[in-house]
Amino acid sequence: MGTHISRVPMKFIFGKPVDEPFDRENEIKQLVEMMNRRQPVAIIGVRRIGKTSVILKSLKIIETPKVYLSVEDFIEGKSFDLVSFLSLYSSLLITNTLNYVDPKRKISQIVKQKGKELLDKLRELIGYVKLSFNINLVEVEVFLNSVKRGGVKESIPQVLELPERLAEEFGLNTIVVAIDEFQYLKLASQNYPGIFHLLRSKWQFHNKVSYVISGSSVGLLEKIFYDKKEPFYQFFFPIYVKQFDKNTSFNFLKQGFRDEGKDYEDNALLLAIEELDGIPAWLNYFGLKSLQCNEVTSECAKKVIEDITFNDPIVRGIIQEEYNKLGKNARIILKYLAEKGGKGDLKGLELSRASINEGLKSLLGSGYIVKEERGKYAIIDPVIVKVLKSSTQII
Ligand SMILES: Nc1ncnc2c1ncn2[C@@H]1O[C@H](COP(=O)(O)OP(=O)(O)O)[C@@H](O)[C@H]1O
Ligand SMILES: [Mg+2]
Repeated sequence: MGTHISRVPMKFIFGKPVDEPFDRENEIKQLVEMMNRRQPVAIIGVRRIGKTSVILKSLKIIETPKVYLSVEDFIEGKSFDLVSFLSLYSSLLITNTLNYVDPKRKISQIVKQKGKELLDKLRELIGYVKLSFNINLVEVEVFLNSVKRGGVKESIPQVLELPERLAEEFGLNTIVVAIDEFQYLKLASQNYPGIFHLLRSKWQFHNKVSYVISGSSVGLLEKIFYDKKEPFYQFFFPIYVKQFDKNTSFNFLKQGFRDEGKDYEDNALLLAIEELDGIPAWLNYFGLKSLQCNEVTSECAKKVIEDITFNDPIVRGIIQEEYNKLGKNARIILKYLAEKGGKGDLKGLELSRASINEGLKSLLGSGYIVKEERGKYAIIDPVIVKVLKSSTQII
C-alpha cells in the first residue's frame, strides 16, 4: 500500500488564467513570501506564459484583504481611463477590506448597524476626494467626481493613500494591491504627467501595503525599475515567469492527456513541444485540439499544429490583434524575422537605420523579440512565427 496523495485532475484550459497553475509552486511560494513581508514585487514574463495565473493563485493563498486590477481593462484606443480605474480601485479596496474585517455579514448589514459611524469613517479616509458612494448588499461602489476641471487630478494623491489608511484604520498588518499589465499606466502619463513619480512617492512610505505589479512588456517593465532615471528605480523585487522547459512541457502534456483519459504517443508530445516551445497557453491549446483525435499520435500532433498555424480563426485573431497594435516599423521587422524562420539579422531589410532602431526598441520593449547576439534577434513566441510566416493576409 502506498500513500495516495489526492489531487485535482488536470484539465487543459485556454484563454483564462488557470486556478491550479502547473509547476509554478516556486514562483507562487516566493510571491506569497514577498507579499507577507511587504516587499514590492514585479512579475515579469511574455504574453501567455502564466503571470496572471501565478498572481491570482498567490492572492488566493494569502490571508489579507487584497485587490487585483488589470490596467489593460481601462485602455480605450491609445488613452487610459484613469477615473474609472481609480473608482474601481477604491471600491475594491473598501469592499474587500470590509468583507475581510467582518466576513460573516453582508456589507449592507455592516452599514446598517454601524451606519453613520462607518460612513463618516470612510468619508474621513478619503475625505478630500469628491466622491459619492453606492452601498448595496455586497459592495461599496465609489464614484470619483470628474465634473470639475482638475478635480480628479487633485484627488489622485488621496486615493493612493487609501490602502494604507484603511489598514491603519482597521488595524490590519497587510493589504495586497496587485496591478497587472502595469506598463500601460504609461498611457496615463499623457494626461497625468508624473503619475509614476507620484505612485513611487506614495508607495515607498506605505508600511502596511504589499504592492505587486506585473506585465508582458518585458523590456518596458525592466526599464521602469532597472533604469536610474526612472522613478521606480530599484523599487521592485523581480520574479520572472518563464517558458516551461522541455521536461516540464512533456510532463504537463502527459498529465493532461492522462487525466483527460486520452491515449498518447510520447513522440507526439515531443513533436508538439518542439513546435510550441514551452509556452503554457499554446500547450493547453494543443491539448484541447488534440482531444479530437482518437489517440494522440504523431500524425495527430502534426495535423493539429498545422491547423493552428494555417486555419485556426482564434489563433489568427489573437495574433492579428496584437500585430495591429504594433507600429509600422515594428510590424515590418516582426514579419521579416518570421519569414526568416523566427530569428536572424536584419540585413537586406528596406528600412532606414532610424526606422529599424525605432521598430526594434518597440518590439524589445513590448516583449515580442529578444536580442540574441550583435545584430541578431529572435521572436519569442513560435506560434507568432508560424502564423506570420504562413499568412499573406496579415499585413
Ligand atoms: N502554470 C500553468 N499551468 C497550466 N496552464 C497555464 C499555466 N500558466 C498559463 N497557462 C495557460 O496560459 C494561459 C494564459 O495564462 P495567464 O496566466 O493569463 O498568462 P499571462 O498573464 O502571462 O498572459 C492560460 O489560459 C492557460 O491556458
Ligand atoms: Mg495576464
